[in-house]
Amino acid sequence: MTFLVTGARGLVGRTVIDRLRAAGHAVRAVSSRPEDTELPADVAVAATDPDDPGSYAAALDGVDRVFLYAASPGLEHFLAAARAAGVGHIVLLSSIAAEAPGNPIGDRHLAVEGPLRESGLPLTILRPGAFASNARLWRDSIAAERVVRHPFPDVQQNPIHEADLADAAVAALTEPGHAGAIYPLTGPESLSFRAMIDILAEAVGEPIRLERIGYDEAAEFVFRPVLDLWAAAGTGPAPVGPTVESVTGPPGRTFAEWAADHAAEFR
Ligand SMILES: NC(=O)c1ccc[n+]([C@@H]2O[C@H](COP(=O)([O-])OP(=O)(O)OC[C@H]3O[C@@H](n4cnc5c(N)ncnc54)[C@H](OP(=O)(O)O)[C@@H]3O)[C@@H](O)[C@H]2O)c1
Repeated sequence: MTFLVTGARGLVGRTVIDRLRAAGHAVRAVSSRPEDTELPADVAVAATDPDDPGSYAAALDGVDRVFLYAASPGLEHFLAAARAAGVGHIVLLSSIAAEAPGNPIGDRHLAVEGPLRESGLPLTILRPGAFASNARLWRDSIAAERVVRHPFPDVQQNPIHEADLADAAVAALTEPGHAGAIYPLTGPESLSFRAMIDILAEAVGEPIRLERIGYDEAAEFVFRPVLDLWAAAGTGPAPVGPTVESVTGPPGRTFAEWAADHAAEFR
């Protein structure tokens, strides 16, 4: 069986690739920048071009199952090629924002979920909340100055480890019983950004200062719809669950586990 994984440079995509290979499956990859992927030699990587239907046909030829990032451009070519190849299952990385239509993030994901559902191809949709890996946005300032600049430090999140997402994706791709399912997924705990920074400091082994900045300053490096969500969020706990446990069994990984796994990137 051959698996195609899109978003090969992404943390989630790369973890899915590693898990599928470790289970002995043949894997191919798609990336917007194939030359910048660092994939094992047995993983062929291609680019797809929304203006070139043939690029999708080539990428999907002989593919049985697909892990897909939510990209609208070229989706019609992807679907035509998937049908022609006889793809038997697609797992889509969507977003929990798709549960609340009417916001730009949710609508962007629904624009991909809709045609996939209408295609009739066997489909599982993962709808994660905030990724733990969003903390990588703080990498440069932590590495250089041991500081995080944030406009809403007391807003809480339920950060999910990319390994939990990859575990859910691989289960849905390789086990029976997941077709038609939509899995909302969060991490296993609610934490303020302030608490996440403290946990990162512990993992890095040095204090990290928190500096509060204004909305406009933050908008220079954070997507405005995300800032708007934080501005409206208040400081109460973020709803926790369902976690990966609902799909695979073992409990979700904590932010402390994520911080330990990635501490070297922040030093
Ligand atoms: N970050 C979050 O909190 C969050 C929460 C819920 C859902 N999501 C979903 O996860 C996606 C990736 O999030 P991330 O960047 O934080 O994690 P990531 O797994 O590190 O993904 C980054 C890489 O994924 C690929 N990619 C990302 N978005 C794509 C898209 N719309 N179409 C095609 N490829 C895409 C690109 O890889 P290549 O350059 O190799 O193609 C990009 O370099 C988001 O676009 C969103 O759909 C994210």
